[in-house]
Amino acid sequence: MVTKHKIMNINQLINHATLAPSGHNTQPWKFSADGNIVRIYPDFQRSLPVVDPDNHALYISLGCALENLVISAKQDGLTSSVDYFPEGESEECIRVTLADENTQKEQELFKAIPVRQSNRSMYDERKISSADVDKLLQANVSDSVSVKTFDTEEKEAEPVIKLVKEASRIQFSDRQFVEELISWIRFSKNEVQAKRDGLSAKVMGFPYIPRWLGRIILKTVAKPSGEAARAEKQIRSSSHLILFISKKNNKQHWADTGRAFQRTALRAASLGIAHAHLNMPCEVESVREKLSTHLGLSPDEQPLLLIRMGYAAEVPRSQRRPLDEVLVNGEGK
Ligand SMILES: Cc1cc2nc3c(=O)[nH]c(=O)nc-3n(C[C@H](O)[C@H](O)[C@H](O)COP(=O)(O)O)c2cc1C
Repeated sequence: MVTKHKIMNINQLINHATLAPSGHNTQPWKFSADGNIVRIYPDFQRSLPVVDPDNHALYISLGCALENLVISAKQDGLTSSVDYFPEGESEECIRVTLADENTQKEQELFKAIPVRQSNRSMYDERKISSADVDKLLQANVSDSVSVKTFDTEEKEAEPVIKLVKEASRIQFSDRQFVEELISWIRFSKNEVQAKRDGLSAKVMGFPYIPRWLGRIILKTVAKPSGEAARAEKQIRSSSHLILFISKKNNKQHWADTGRAFQRTALRAASLGIAHAHLNMPCEVESVREKLSTHLGLSPDEQPLLLIRMGYAAEVPRSQRRPLDEVLVNGEGK
């Protein structure tokens, strides 16, 4: 049984879930709370058809939110039993049943939930100790996901860096990719405050400017070769790359990839380690195939997230929509 006091905290758990990362900060989720059951729904209005045509990144984002919820519930002494996309629901969802049972808190991960952030700045080239790399790897407890690390100074990283650059060039040569990206950039302070989603200029390291100017700059200044060179510089300023490989190509495994990534990102934040995505070679299908072949993966295994890790000063925080925009009442919607 879940006590009344704990049920009152469920909105707080959902609030923590919404602090999760999501592709382009689309926040592609809705939640409902019904007694001791929380449901997480995909919000396909917030999908990214160009960069994520099969929605794998959307389900990874749901997994990140789910992991935040589960860790926060533990902090309140609640265990979570997770059913992925169960039959009999009026809409597709991940169903979390909370129970008031003795459970081990994950204090460090919990405390890192509001601290974690994607940090796209140049890092300071300091190396992560092998003891801390081990701690990052141990954060993944999922059987559905495997993880590979690359020291950016070792030669094993070079083919991966090459594929990041190749995919970056492909993406920035694709008008539809650039248009989709622009549609999720919040160029001005007004846009940031009105929408509370997407990629704010400040978070990306640019000043606020009018949208018309932002469009021109992105379409003229963001050249494919320049973007590829910038990605390489970012990698070389980082200590390690971490690649998350989903052992199967289906929704549950994608969500589990999100859970594994989120735990690793939270562990990193708790150790003062910065991270950012360099998913380009995972997003461009032809390059993803090359990456899989290079790593000798089986046809089922999908390399879905490539993350750089290292040390950098904090950057401005990205926004989230308020709870009443993501909360739907009771069962179904
Ligand atoms: C599945 C997924 C894919 C992402 N892909 C990228 C990416 O390709 N490039 C990037 O800079 N950030 C990427 N991000 C990071 C998001 O843009 C970031 O989480 C979002 O803007 C919210 O900011 P925060 O992580 O600082 O809270 C991705 C995040 C997720 C969960």
